Amino acid sequence: MVKIGNLELKHGLCLAPMAGYTDRAMRLVCRKYGAEYSVTEMVSAKAVTFGDQKTFNLARILPDEGPVSVQIFGSEPEIMAQAAYTLAKATDGVRPVAIDINMGCPVNKIFGNGEGSALMKNPELIYRITRAVSSAIDIPTTVKIRAGINQNSINAVECALAAEEGGASLICVHGRTREQMYGGLADREIIKNVKSALHIPLIANGDIVDGQSALNMLRDTGADGIAIGRGAVGNPFIFTEIISALEGREFSSPSIEERVDTALHQLKTAIEEKGERMAIPEARKQIALYLRSFHGAARIRAEINRALTYREVEKALRSALDE
Ligand SMILES: Cc1cc2nc3c(=O)[nH]c(=O)nc-3n(C[C@H](O)[C@H](O)[C@H](O)COP(=O)(O)O)c2cc1C
Repeated sequence: MVKIGNLELKHGLCLAPMAGYTDRAMRLVCRKYGAEYSVTEMVSAKAVTFGDQKTFNLARILPDEGPVSVQIFGSEPEIMAQAAYTLAKATDGVRPVAIDINMGCPVNKIFGNGEGSALMKNPELIYRITRAVSSAIDIPTTVKIRAGINQNSINAVECALAAEEGGASLICVHGRTREQMYGGLADREIIKNVKSALHIPLIANGDIVDGQSALNMLRDTGADGIAIGRGAVGNPFIFTEIISALEGREFSSPSIEERVDTALHQLKTAIEEKGERMAIPEARKQIALYLRSFHGAARIRAEINRALTYREVEKALRSALDE
């Protein structure tokens, strides 16, 4: 069980934030299959303070989504606090459960600006940012970190303690260094060390791809909950699979019909939000992963890559049922 403020998550099952993926459509479909909590794609704190409408669209949460946090990135405590205050009020949509601070993004553009995982170079700044944000809002502040910057600077314990000291209510740890990006394996030992040091709940993250890897992560780290990223793309059923594993029940994989229906439902929601022109190109990479176990996947993928309308995607996907 995980507590975030007054919110209780029975299994502590979370959808990890992923830029370009965890939009409303993906969050809703993961919730349907058992995700108890999700986080938006990261948004720039600076852009929020400039009043950028695209940024507000990314951060908007609607009432049917269940508990969702908004993730911000940046490096200046005052700007982070101002953005958190604006987003926590949520004049457009429902209020987030928490404001999550990104301290793990490895990409050069963000890291080079001293944001995302670059904050892990400076635990004192982590303290100041978390303090500023948690003082500015009346909902919990949560923080997502990595193991460290590289193998020679594994300092997740120090960074997590700085965030806790600054008023964080929960820490999520992705057990890779910034240098690893998404390669290699997530280190469960470091997650376990952070869990032992903290008084607040910890969510473990990295390489959970099925029921067994979820159980292993919980067993090896003692984490209060887990967050699933890539393992949920094109596979929201992973949440049902993990709940079954936690409860010692059998899980039967969804049929091709259910995969097709789920992919189409997710696409339809994305189109309602963004329109076909934007939603279809964005959804291609997700639909490709729904096709994982299909006969004729390469042909269907090629058709979807050419498709410009919902109907064309539907026709290509439904053809899988005739294979
Ligand atoms: C395409 C992509 C986008 C991501 N975007 C974010 C993000 O916006 N914020 C964040 O904290 N982590 C982000 N992550 C990291 C994931 O939340 C997660 O920590 C990482 O993928 C490891 O978990 P997994 O093995 O379950 O995927 C992203 C990862 C991927 C692959």
